[in-house]
Amino acid sequence: MPASDGIEQVFYSEAPPDLRRRFALLRHRADPVLRPMPGETVRDLHDPALSAVSFYTCSGEAVISYAAVLRKTIRHAAQTFEIAGLSAVLTDPEFRGRGFGRRTVAAATRWIGESGADLGLFTCDPPLARFYARAGAWPVAGNIVLIGGRSATALRSDMLGKVVLMRLFTPHAMAAEPVLSQATIDLDLPDGQFL
Ligand SMILES: CC(C)(COP(=O)(O)OP(=O)(O)OC[C@H]1O[C@@H](n2cnc3c(N)ncnc32)[C@H](O)[C@@H]1OP(=O)(O)O)[C@@H](O)C(=O)NCCC(=O)NCCS
Repeated sequence: MPASDGIEQVFYSEAPPDLRRRFALLRHRADPVLRPMPGETVRDLHDPALSAVSFYTCSGEAVISYAAVLRKTIRHAAQTFEIAGLSAVLTDPEFRGRGFGRRTVAAATRWIGESGADLGLFTCDPPLARFYARAGAWPVAGNIVLIGGRSATALRSDMLGKVVLMRLFTPHAMAAEPVLSQATIDLDLPDGQFL
């Protein structure tokens, strides 16, 4: 289904196997060292528990730009928040620098804003903060540490050297700004997962 600006959109869980394979091929092209070449059947890119929505652009049969929105419910400061974050933001190396990443992130961000999510929350490497600010008006939340969970081995933004990006979308989140903007926020994810 078209989202906007030529970007396609699909619930990852409903994407046909061939499309999932083309997502995985893009991830391999974007990071061939870390990602083995996908075989006929591919491992899921996203944990089904996080209800991923995929935004993507094709050139012919190939997927050349991709971003997923992952969603979950968290508890923070005795309140419940619906959160959404970007993940697997990728452009084929041959197509970089032509605005595909910006347009894909912009479409995914618009979707988050209209989805009813209270807040958008994810991390990135510090040099990429400018890209996300321009693509989706994502500001750096300098006083937040994001943690994957409470276990000793859980991933954390400060240990990973990442910056936290956060946007508040609903009146519920805006009212909670004082307890959200200077805090350690627990994503309560399985060990090894992060946003
Ligand atoms: C980041 C990425 C998706 C951008 O895709 P793209 O299609 O080239 O994006 P656009 O053409 O819309 O925008 C490119 C801008 O991002 C900047 N950019 C891209 N990668 C960057 C990086 N690693 N550090 C700093 N800036 C970066 C470019 O300098 C460019 O800036 P400009 O607009 O001022 O010239 C792509 O480079 C990529 O797939 N990188 C590898 C995977 C990755 O790091 N993903 C992000 C995970 S948080």
